[in-house]
Amino acid sequence: MKILLTGCSGYVGGIIAPFFSEAAELYQTNTRGSFTNYHRAADLRNIDEVQALAEWIQPDVIIHAAGNKNSKFCEEHEDEAAKINVTACENLIRAFGANVKYIYISSDYVFDGMRGNYTEEDTPAPFTAYGRQKLAAEKIFLTNAPQSFIVRLAALFDNNATFCKFLRDQFEKNVAVECFDDVFYSPTYYRNFLQILNALVFCEDFSRRIFHCGGERVSRFRFASMYAEHSGFPTNLVKECKLFDAAGGNFFFLKPDISLSNAATLKYLNLQPLSLCEALIEL
Ligand SMILES: NC(=O)c1ccc[n+]([C@@H]2O[C@H](COP(=O)([O-])OP(=O)(O)OC[C@H]3O[C@@H](n4cnc5c(N)ncnc54)[C@H](OP(=O)(O)O)[C@@H]3O)[C@@H](O)[C@H]2O)c1
Repeated sequence: MKILLTGCSGYVGGIIAPFFSEAAELYQTNTRGSFTNYHRAADLRNIDEVQALAEWIQPDVIIHAAGNKNSKFCEEHEDEAAKINVTACENLIRAFGANVKYIYISSDYVFDGMRGNYTEEDTPAPFTAYGRQKLAAEKIFLTNAPQSFIVRLAALFDNNATFCKFLRDQFEKNVAVECFDDVFYSPTYYRNFLQILNALVFCEDFSRRIFHCGGERVSRFRFASMYAEHSGFPTNLVKECKLFDAAGGNFFFLKPDISLSNAATLKYLNLQPLSLCEALIEL
């Protein structure tokens, strides 16, 4: 099995790469770095560079984990961000063809964030430019590549996730952090994500399909409190606050509830993920 992983130097790619380097022949790409048998640099916004990648390697599966997830940048530079978040997807299909298997890493941000618990069947309604671009990319794969799996991933975490690192830094300095108790999401433990991805990569029935990859629905306050507790820090370092009392403009990318339900995905793949509590104990 030959896999091409885009975005190998990113947070998501950095979690995927070590896992599949054992189980498959893994080829990787990002914008820079070494030129080896298993790695090539390519700017995916540029069709010529993507075509050069396709001449280098003909993979069975492409895991497309390159992109720009910076909501503020996407909002302020929508056209520029669309080149990596949308055009790059078109370029991959143009260069590698419609018969390669694609796994596209999408996002919970395709939803409006107002009621949460979104299923794979719910109609997306993104409220940010980033979310609109992720949805546009999904449609490109689903329309043009018959073997495309869309994985809507919600807030991936391990100990190196930005939020976890921030929390630990503050806790180590004995500084209290304020976290919203009125903003809900479904953070995904990295091993649960890898379990789903592994099932998809080796899936025999590759067709057009949407999967949800998220953990339990929690508030940001609850997640931070549980993280403190399981990392051995006093939970009173985490203080509750309200998004809707805060300066809303700074948090335009947060809505009351963007949590995903992944019940249908787990049933389809016959998987049993770790609970949030089990995940935090394991971390
Ligand atoms: N992190 C999450 O929790 C999460 C959740 C849902 C969905 N996602 C999706 O997963 C993807 C990656 O997220 P991330 O957290 O890993 O972001 P990240 O840490 O910022 O990494 C971005 C990756 O994309 C590559 N990239 C950026 N521009 C490129 C270009 N023009 N050509 C080729 N490669 C390019 C980067 O390569 P360089 O290092 O060379 O710049 C890097 O490897 C995004 O599409 C995001 O929407 C992430």
